Amino acid sequence: MSLWGGRFERAPDALFRRFGDSLRFDRALGEADLTASAAWARELGHAGVLSADDAERLATEIERLRAEVASGAVVIPGEGAEDVHSWAEEVLTARLGDLARRLHTGRSRNDQVATDLRLWLRDALDERRVEIGRVRDALLRLAGREGDAIFPGYTHLQRAQPILFGHWCLAWDEALARDAARLGDARRRASACPLGSGALAGSAWPIDRDRLAASLGFESATRNSLDAVSARDFVLEALSAMAICGTTLSRIAEDLIFYASGEAGFIELGDEVTSGSSLMPQKKNPDALELIRGRAGRLIGALMTVLVVVKGLPSAYNKDLQEDKEPLFDAMAHGGMALRMLAIVLDSVLLHRDAARAAAQGGHANATDLADYLVERGVPFRTAHELAGRAVRLALSRGVSLEALPLDDLRSISALIDADVLPRLTPEAVVSRRNVHGGTAPARVHAALEAARARLDLEGAARGRAAP
Ligand code: ARG
Repeated sequence: MSLWGGRFERAPDALFRRFGDSLRFDRALGEADLTASAAWARELGHAGVLSADDAERLATEIERLRAEVASGAVVIPGEGAEDVHSWAEEVLTARLGDLARRLHTGRSRNDQVATDLRLWLRDALDERRVEIGRVRDALLRLAGREGDAIFPGYTHLQRAQPILFGHWCLAWDEALARDAARLGDARRRASACPLGSGALAGSAWPIDRDRLAASLGFESATRNSLDAVSARDFVLEALSAMAICGTTLSRIAEDLIFYASGEAGFIELGDEVTSGSSLMPQKKNPDALELIRGRAGRLIGALMTVLVVVKGLPSAYNKDLQEDKEPLFDAMAHGGMALRMLAIVLDSVLLHRDAARAAAQGGHANATDLADYLVERGVPFRTAHELAGRAVRLALSRGVSLEALPLDDLRSISALIDADVLPRLTPEAVVSRRNVHGGTAPARVHAALEAARARLDLEGAARGRAAP
């Protein structure tokens, strides 16, 4: 059954049908479509298009079908109808006859699909936010377990200054909190209901669009019918937030891959998230993390796809807009999987504290603190920087660390250096001195961890779900 056969003499070409039909993927919208249709049926009753009895009978049958789809009792096929909207109407017509043929009064697939997609996206964004919460939870657990360990901090992938491992965990918690907030922003703007906008000009029937929007749990009805069927910036915004989140996940993965490398050896990943080599028996490869890093490309690609699809489209609905769905579904599904995977990887991380501390102690990562020591003795920082640099050069030539240089050698660089410099150069001392808001001193990291824990619990509660 087609929704639009009347004006055509010949049937569509078989390839055109295959090329154009979207049921294969938009069946994912089945439940959202039926939810919106039940609300629409009731609204047709309020508007006097259907009798109250008919409206209720129609809405009830639609809700029954939705429950059957949700439970799996009815499986939406991948072909046999043009799209999920046609499929639903066909099934309802088989069940209710002419009553179901009244459902599409005053409605267009243009306002229907825009509504369905927003309903679907609302739930998908909520799921991703919960999953981000779980990754953050895993990071905070890791910080609770190993957060007090001394760890090498890098810039340019060169050892820079020691930090606490908990500081690293909390850094990524910050980024993920922003990612979640961005998804929340996208959700807020997606929460306007296009239904009642018709094909482009607004429904010709006296629909109370505000009541309709509220009955579907939207925050408002869209204000302009032309915009409502045209707009896909809510898709772009969600994809953009997902792509950004993908880059966060990718960078976390990259850090961990490096930390787990043979060259670094600061952490070990669990057997359950690593693979061996078919040839080299000794290998333990960080496949899960590499796939998380790689999958970011997919999320970025989805955003690019839809950006290019909408760019240059004339206003209102054009069939090009059907191309928004696969990238959106794909990005949401794969982003979700990457998030769930990362939470498992983080729980498997084992820290090699000695190796991490040794690396933090090496690489002359305490040179800044030698300079600061001289500053305390009245030397201008630029001069102190130069002197500490000379000390590094001397240590390099001797093949030792700064603190292993004999005091006389240090004093040959500046007579202001005394034996009391040595305790200043341990990684513990270096870390402790970064005692500013946002710094890596143990007291700060400890307080930051508590605060992060409280924030995460609060956000979980604010979402109306148990904190993940
Ligand atoms: N499958 C279509 C889509 O995804 C539904 C809307 C069809 N509208 C139309 N005027 N042909 O966009």
